[in-house]
Amino acid sequence: MGFRKDFLWGGATAANQLEGAYNEDGRGLANVDLTPVGEARLSVITGKRKMLEFEEGYFYPAKGAIDFYHRYKEDIALFAEMGFKTYRMSIAWTRIFPKGDEETPNEKGLEFYENVFKECRKYGIEPLVTITHFDFPIHLIKEYGGWRNRKIVDFYKKLCEVIFKRYKGLVKYWLTFNEINILLHAPFMGAGIVFEEGENEKQALYAAAHHELVASAWATKIAHEIDPENKVGCMLASGKYYPLTAKPEDVWEALEKDRENYFFIDVQVRGYYPNYALKFFERNNLKIDITEEDRKILKENTVDFVSFSYYTTRCISKEAADLGEGNLLESMRNPYIEVTDWGWGLDPLGFRTTINEIYDRYQKPLFVVENGLGAVDTPDENGYVEDDYRIDYLRAHIKAMKDAVELDGVDLLGYTTWGPIDLVSAGTGEMKKRYGFIYVDRDNAGNGTLKRSKKKSFEWYKKVIASNGEDLE
Ligand code: BG6
Repeated sequence: MGFRKDFLWGGATAANQLEGAYNEDGRGLANVDLTPVGEARLSVITGKRKMLEFEEGYFYPAKGAIDFYHRYKEDIALFAEMGFKTYRMSIAWTRIFPKGDEETPNEKGLEFYENVFKECRKYGIEPLVTITHFDFPIHLIKEYGGWRNRKIVDFYKKLCEVIFKRYKGLVKYWLTFNEINILLHAPFMGAGIVFEEGENEKQALYAAAHHELVASAWATKIAHEIDPENKVGCMLASGKYYPLTAKPEDVWEALEKDRENYFFIDVQVRGYYPNYALKFFERNNLKIDITEEDRKILKENTVDFVSFSYYTTRCISKEAADLGEGNLLESMRNPYIEVTDWGWGLDPLGFRTTINEIYDRYQKPLFVVENGLGAVDTPDENGYVEDDYRIDYLRAHIKAMKDAVELDGVDLLGYTTWGPIDLVSAGTGEMKKRYGFIYVDRDNAGNGTLKRSKKKSFEWYKKVIASNGEDLE
């Protein structure tokens, strides 16, 4: 009983949130480089404010991040010390194709990831690679308008072909798009979209969604052709919507909100558009160009497994939805649960509920590829942090996940916590919102030595992994 013997314990990161070295070795500029910390961030990541060049007076945290680019050996050694079986990370598209539409890839970029994968393998760590984690070449935004343009599918296919060939034998587990449903809520981050004045936003979003879904199916096809050993997954930002009350209207609203997110995974797992989505397009007069070839590719190339992030459940009422609240995946305050310093609900049982719901819906092997607590840490003079709050959060969530496996029979491949080493927050751009087992000396303004030190949770997670999730104390 308990977790499978080959359960993949580990941690998850994204290129732009930890690598830094944004302009080294031929890397091109990406959307994620141009998302500043502070107030302007929200309007930039949601595509409301155009910022395609660095502007005076802003701090761009991804430029330097935590400098993983130069320190990956040290960081991977620490992951290995914790006993990681897997390390989830992403590839920066602009290291491989700096502009996105070149004929030939950048050898330096390819080399960097090859070295990282070899370093992982040295310790028996299985890389789990997200092909795009909120990552998109700026040139493709300026020239083509981001994912709303079908041409991007071909550039993405090219990227896939190059990396699948180059890393054959080194990488087996792939995720096509990080939190694909987030493109509806943060279109610049999820799809390289900056809205034009007066544009029909829904049209742009669902056109982009269609292109990413088709690209994801192509990636699956290419991955399987290049190496039948490859396993390709989709990736959902999960977290069930609860109705605020038992009012039938609130229950219906919650169902609609859940569908907005499941829509993507429905297509990636089943291979066709669900009727509720086609009706939604019709009602909203959206013209999505779904070709015969698209249908065939989607149908024939469904994913091998379903991965997702889980931080919290959400809560919605009919009234709030009518007011436009509950967008941006924010939710109403659930009166039955506590929240973190950043207002995210603490709901381990909601994790079990969500895991079960996803399994019931798809009947595919699942992979939890993000979970964790973003909190303020106060290190002592040696960088040591007594992060019992983080241990408590993780313990409760791992227990809930264990129940889903042991008591409910869910087929779960692995679990990677978000940000095993402190990194830049995707939502706020802060360093202060820390998730790590490893503390990094850097602040919101980019000051600090970048020195790494182990927190209390480091030893705790090591024990969890060594006991395959049996020892959570
Ligand atoms: C997920 C993303 O949404 O949540 C990560 O895939 C992100 O990139 C993580 O960092 C946590 O969110 P935040 O805003 O606290 O960094």
